[in-house]
Order: sequence, then C-alpha cells, then structure tokens
Amino acid sequence: MTIFTPASDKQFFSPFGPTVGYFKMPNLMVDKLNSSVEKNLSDHSNRLVGKVSEELSFDNESKKIAGDNLINFITEYHSYTKLRNSMNKEDLDPTEKYKLEIISAWFVRQYENEYNPLHIHTGCTLSCVGYLSLPEGIENEWEDDYKNHYPANGHINFAHGTHGSHSCSNFLVKPQVGDFYIFPSYLSHCVYPFYTPGERRSFSMNMIFSK
Ligand SMILES: [Fe+2]
Repeated sequence: MTIFTPASDKQFFSPFGPTVGYFKMPNLMVDKLNSSVEKNLSDHSNRLVGKVSEELSFDNESKKIAGDNLINFITEYHSYTKLRNSMNKEDLDPTEKYKLEIISAWFVRQYENEYNPLHIHTGCTLSCVGYLSLPEGIENEWEDDYKNHYPANGHINFAHGTHGSHSCSNFLVKPQVGDFYIFPSYLSHCVYPFYTPGERRSFSMNMIFSK
C-alpha cells in the first residue's frame, strides 16, 4: 500500500494500473533480428493464440541480441515502476546485480486478414512487442483508416480495467518499425487485422526480471 503525500501545490496523477514502456530499438538490432527470421526456426503458431501464418521461436543468438540491447531499458522500466508504486520512496538497489531471464521469445509473421485475439501471457512477469517490418503501402491503408472515428487496422490494443468518465481502459498503438513496448504479462492485448498485402513482422518475449 502507498500513502499519498502531495509533492506540489498542484498535480495530476494516475496511480492505478499497469505501466507500459516505450523504447526505440537501434537499427542494427532490427536488422539482426530480421536476418534471424531467414534461419530455419521452428514454428509454434499451433500452440499460440495468434491467428497468424507463423510464430517462429527465437534461437539462442536472437535471444542474446534482444537481451543485450534491451537490458538497460528494462532495468530503467523497473526503476520507474518501483518509484511510481512507492510514490518515489523506493528504487532498485544500486548494489544489486539484476538479470533478465527470457523464458520464451518468438517472431510473429502476420499477413493481411490475419489477427491476434485478446490474450495475456503466462509463466512470466513481463511481456513485450517489437516491430521489425510492415507491408509496403500500409501507410495508404492507415491514411484511409484514420478518416474513420476509430482507426485500428493492424494496431495493437491494450485493455485494462473499466472505462469511465475519468478513467481509460483502452490503449491503441500504431506499429512502426523499430518501436518496442514492454508491459506486465497480465495486461490483455489483441492485434486487429489489416488488408494491405504483405507481412507485418513483430517479435514478442516472455521475461522475468529479478536479482
Ligand atoms: Fe501477445
């Protein structure tokens, strides 16, 4: 439990709900992961939720590329959430050595008319999505879709809690190559279909961050 004490004469705050972190991945990381997809990786799409063409497991090299590039950001995410959850009273222990365990990781190869139903990730505390490739011409589809009052094509939708007059339960993200989002594994999310021919390629990882 956190007891609130005002820190200034005026402030707005949203103390409830999960934290989502955003990080722009280095181009080299995106290129290396895209190259990994060309390898002969095993397809686990029949065991995962997504109604998509392929979900290819990371090999050890891909896990290392992701872990090496993301560990600092993921440590910052934990520091932010620890401070936020304690109203700035607790942070990570600088004398501790923290580690990131990647329980499982996979590439999601989604093509036109495919989608990923609402789901959570289990057996971990954290999950994430990183965008590696988009169909050529999807910006034209989005230009049309954004004339609609609720654009969603090919977007990921996070959902948490109950929508109310001063509360928000939906968070939509438009994928862009190089964008990476981290979130608690229990946070429900889905991906809507798109109609431009081609591949929307992302990756997801189930992780545990601990001492
Ligand atoms: Fe997911």
